[in-house]
Amino acid sequence: MSGKVPMARLDRLLANLGYGSRREVTVLVAHRQVELDGVVIKDAGARIALTPDLSARMTVTGRPLDPPAPLTLVMHKPLGVVCSHKEPGRSVYELLPMRWRARMPSLSTIGRLDKDTSGLLLITDDGAFLHQVISPRHHVAKCYVATLDRPLAGTEAEVFASGTLMLDSETTPLAPALLEPLAENRARLTITEGRYHQVRRMFAAVGNHVTGLHRDQIGGLALPDDLQSGDWRALSPEEQASVFA
Ligand code: URA
Repeated sequence: MSGKVPMARLDRLLANLGYGSRREVTVLVAHRQVELDGVVIKDAGARIALTPDLSARMTVTGRPLDPPAPLTLVMHKPLGVVCSHKEPGRSVYELLPMRWRARMPSLSTIGRLDKDTSGLLLITDDGAFLHQVISPRHHVAKCYVATLDRPLAGTEAEVFASGTLMLDSETTPLAPALLEPLAENRARLTITEGRYHQVRRMFAAVGNHVTGLHRDQIGGLALPDDLQSGDWRALSPEEQASVFA
């Protein structure tokens, strides 16, 4: 592997981070609004080394540069927001800075949580990482805590672990899943697939109803304790690797 640092033209870098069109960012540069290591950059065509510390070294209108791609975020998704641009209602993207909606490559959620599900959500512009996490081949486990309308019957763990449970209108059985009872009407469920409304439909298939759902882990990555509902931050490379641990 080469240790060469990637380079980008300043105007293209800023336009791809959503600071404006290339023409608009050229105007920003002409107005002496972009600095690197405290020195004003005068040429919008300057070639910039995309070092990992660039956000700490470059400022735009006096503020640190937004993190360049590839960027992966960890969010504590609150209840009541949707994960898609198309669904009606407030989306998780609206919890991020407005400018980020114009980023290229764009940010996407890694899988989706329902509007009524809270917890650990990853958002990335790194297509390879996204596909690795959602690909069934990688068997990345996702853990949910479900609150149920009725007490557990006691037979759910066996049914979910069987690898034969078929959900309504599907043609292939679910992969084995692990159920750990937490209370009379609460359980932790670990699944390796991401079928539509999977956890709610699994409990419906055994005659129960999910009244609350929270995801607390993806692979080896737990929802960080420092994130309150609605909070998000960049994922560190170590945290990113822990998803596959
Ligand atoms: N399963 C569900 O039913 N809903 C989610 O949000 C995630 C998994």
